[in-house]
Amino acid sequence: MTVDSGAVQAGRRGRFIVFEGGDGAGKSTHVKMLVAALRKAGYGGASERPGLVVTREPGGTELGVRIRELLLHGDEIEPAAEALLYAADRAQHVAEVILPALGRGDVVISDRYLDSSIAYQVGGRGLAEAVIRQVNAVGTGGLEPDLTILMDIAPGIIESRRGGSDGALDRLERAGAAFHRKVIQRYRELAAAHPERYAVVNSSATKGKVHGQVLAAVSRVLETASPPRDAP
Ligand code: TYD
Repeated sequence: MTVDSGAVQAGRRGRFIVFEGGDGAGKSTHVKMLVAALRKAGYGGASERPGLVVTREPGGTELGVRIRELLLHGDEIEPAAEALLYAADRAQHVAEVILPALGRGDVVISDRYLDSSIAYQVGGRGLAEAVIRQVNAVGTGGLEPDLTILMDIAPGIIESRRGGSDGALDRLERAGAAFHRKVIQRYRELAAAHPERYAVVNSSATKGKVHGQVLAAVSRVLETASPPRDAP
């Protein structure tokens, strides 16, 4: 399937929610907490609420799992090759998982999407933004999230949470403090440039407080969601 803007338009019935943030910002915990809350509210179950698809990048498809392995556990990778691998993972993810789910009217929650490439490959590695956007557009057809939740955290806190040990870290986590500072900075710029779809959550607050902010942002988007799938 080729992802063109027509396919993206056809996929606009559901809601596309993305979590973004630097490594160690607590995304995966809050994805899980949000999913539990939505299931409790009837999403993704037998009720008339929309379905729920929980996914991630890299690695949201079978091909993506293999690409993820190369990216996170392989040897050193050239920045350009790295950017293209993330874009390939995303192209498969959009076509195989995200667009079909949105077409069914589901709520899609993805741990990372295109802005990760802008923050890491452009902000962190220094690749040209226009080029990265163009390369990604081949696979995304311009699909943008309805809501991007930025788990924002001061770089110093992440470093102290890690406790200074590099042993179990993957290739990107080992990239160094300066790299991760640039990533966080670029995320903040993206959020400032797109206030209509960004919700910035201070992820160094307590778990309950962060979850409350996530729910508030998500409920604003779901209130305007398409009617339940089985509605007349
Ligand atoms: P992951 O284990 O998902 O990290 P996290 O738990 O922090 O989300 O690994 C994904 C890594 O890949 C993470 O370091 C960010 C990086 N990444 C990019 O550099 N560019 C991208 O486009 C994406 C999707 C991820």
